[in-house]
Amino acid sequence: MHTSDAIQSAQSLLKGRSLLKISDLSESEIRTVLLQGGRLKRASTEGRLTPILEGKTLALIFEKPSLRTRVTFEVAMTRLGGRSIYLAPADIQLGKRESVEDVSRSLSRWVDGIAARTFAHETVVRLAESGSIPVVNALSDLEHPCQALADLLTIAEHRCGTTEEPDFSGIKLAFVGDGNNVANSLLVISASVGMSMTLARPEGFGPDEGVLQEALSIAAKTGARIQVTNDPQEAVQDADIVYTDVWTSMGQEEEREARLQAFRGWCVTAELMKLAKPDAIIMHCLPAHRGEEIAAEVIDGPQSVVFDQAENRLHAQMGLLSFLL
Ligand code: CP
Ligand code: NVA
Repeated sequence: MHTSDAIQSAQSLLKGRSLLKISDLSESEIRTVLLQGGRLKRASTEGRLTPILEGKTLALIFEKPSLRTRVTFEVAMTRLGGRSIYLAPADIQLGKRESVEDVSRSLSRWVDGIAARTFAHETVVRLAESGSIPVVNALSDLEHPCQALADLLTIAEHRCGTTEEPDFSGIKLAFVGDGNNVANSLLVISASVGMSMTLARPEGFGPDEGVLQEALSIAAKTGARIQVTNDPQEAVQDADIVYTDVWTSMGQEEEREARLQAFRGWCVTAELMKLAKPDAIIMHCLPAHRGEEIAAEVIDGPQSVVFDQAENRLHAQMGLLSFLL
């Protein structure tokens, strides 16, 4: 399909839909969000964005802290002519002051969409099922789909040289660390676009079995090679991209000491990076803990693209919101 036709068709196919996990989007829908994100990024840089979300309001429900996700959703709405309302945990006390369902039904009468960051993935599912407006998962314990879309945009820029019709086949992504929400979404998005991904994690630390099966069945159609190992060296060998994330995710704070023990020796160091391609890029969704999952010299070194990823949260979400709202 011609790229302008793809954008037009996504505008009708995606309008009103929710994004709770990456597999809610087909391969062509993922590619179109990417295309639109890249175009809106250029338009934004060149000062020719148009107010395509004028009059639209996005409610942000956050049960956990956030810098990037909150700011990029708010700025995305502002740049596209709409507005956002941030609802902190204490404001609505989701599930305590009133039920998830009543919150969603009420918001559906006033605003055009919800972006929600929750502990239980089930909470974003319940918000989507009970209301009549699109719900975007802004990170749950299971997935972080908006991060994966921004990461794909970053990979397209750095490894494919284009966001128009990028070819991800032949690219090898190694994820080293906890098989968490970020890793889960990356497995599915890699499978969808035909990119190979090896997840190296200590035995017993993910990925989610259901998500892995989903990724494997998508990969069987696209030809992506999806693997899980407990050997970081094997994963990083000849990788184009080395990705890591914190060992203790939000909500797991009580496990921190046990996790520090379990992940001993799993730091992405300059030594480990020698096994990857010489021009490999380093990715991290942030926030990062230097000296734990990644060495300071690696995340702050010339191969790191972590702030491009952070910037691209804005552009990928502008692309996504321009279709859903
Ligand atoms: N990467 C990411 O989601 O960052 P925040 O937790 O700051 O939103
Ligand atoms: N896995 C991390 C990602 C933070 C953006 C967490 O859930 O805390």
